[in-house]
Amino acid sequence: MKLDFTDKVIVITGAARGIGFAIAKTFANANAKVIIIDVASEAVEKAIAELQENGFQAYGYVGNVTDAKSIETIFADVVDKYGTIDCLINNAGITRDNLLIRMKEEDWQLVMDINLKGSFLCTQKAFKYMMRSRNGCIINIASVIGIMGNSGQANYAASKGGLIAFTKSCAKEFGSRNIRVNAVAPGFIETEMTASLSSETRAEYAKAIPLQKMGTPMDIANVCLFLASDAGSYLTGQTIAVDGGLTMH
Ligand SMILES: NC(=O)c1ccc[n+]([C@@H]2O[C@H](COP(=O)([O-])OP(=O)(O)OC[C@H]3O[C@@H](n4cnc5c(N)ncnc54)[C@H](O)[C@@H]3O)[C@@H](O)[C@H]2O)c1
Repeated sequence: MKLDFTDKVIVITGAARGIGFAIAKTFANANAKVIIIDVASEAVEKAIAELQENGFQAYGYVGNVTDAKSIETIFADVVDKYGTIDCLINNAGITRDNLLIRMKEEDWQLVMDINLKGSFLCTQKAFKYMMRSRNGCIINIASVIGIMGNSGQANYAASKGGLIAFTKSCAKEFGSRNIRVNAVAPGFIETEMTASLSSETRAEYAKAIPLQKMGTPMDIANVCLFLASDAGSYLTGQTIAVDGGLTMH
């Protein structure tokens, strides 16, 4: 089965760099119209320029996923200009790591707001349009940390564990409208988010991974492409760990 997204509109949050940008490139390469929403305005411009220079259909919006009004305006504009939203990928996410004893309330809150509330707001707005066409796909980028937990990441783990539970609830709520909701849980992936890890920490992590290496943003993007395609049409409510075998159920 060819994974072709001609005429499909794919909205990806936090896609100006890292995993989100790899997802954008992968869908654009499969002929989709790709919409990037990100807070980093210069990075949005750069990402869109790179995609458009390569002949892809890519459009950018500067927006913060925690701002309900701004997200509503952006989604309305997307539907106005490009006709619909076929797939939403909630990828925007941050870390503010610290041991629990030292964790500041604002770092707890910010991580919850961006990783969890942001996904809620975008999902709610996208669902409004998807239910009209009785068709849609939502992919939440969680993390293996939301499955396993991690010392120094209680806020992040709680937000991603919450996102997995949110995924299952939405899958149950939206299934009768033919809208599928799944999560992808990346393991340790080479991006700017993980660039600050020391080489010792990397080596330590790699030892614990059956495939003995960190993943790439493209490893995540390829699974998203499959999930959003007709090849994944009987999958909903699932969390796919893309982690080299780090977590196994
Ligand atoms: N890198 C990893 O190893 C890894 C592992 C597991 C899960 N993840 C998850 O994958 C997703 C992408 O991670 P990444 O490594 O590419 O991160 P990244 O930091 O490289 O990119 C995140 C992007 O999100 C944007 N962003 C941040 N806050 C935003 C907001 N409020 N509204 C809109 N955009 C916002 C940033 O500007 C940035 O472009 C995140 O949800 C992250 O938690 C990453």
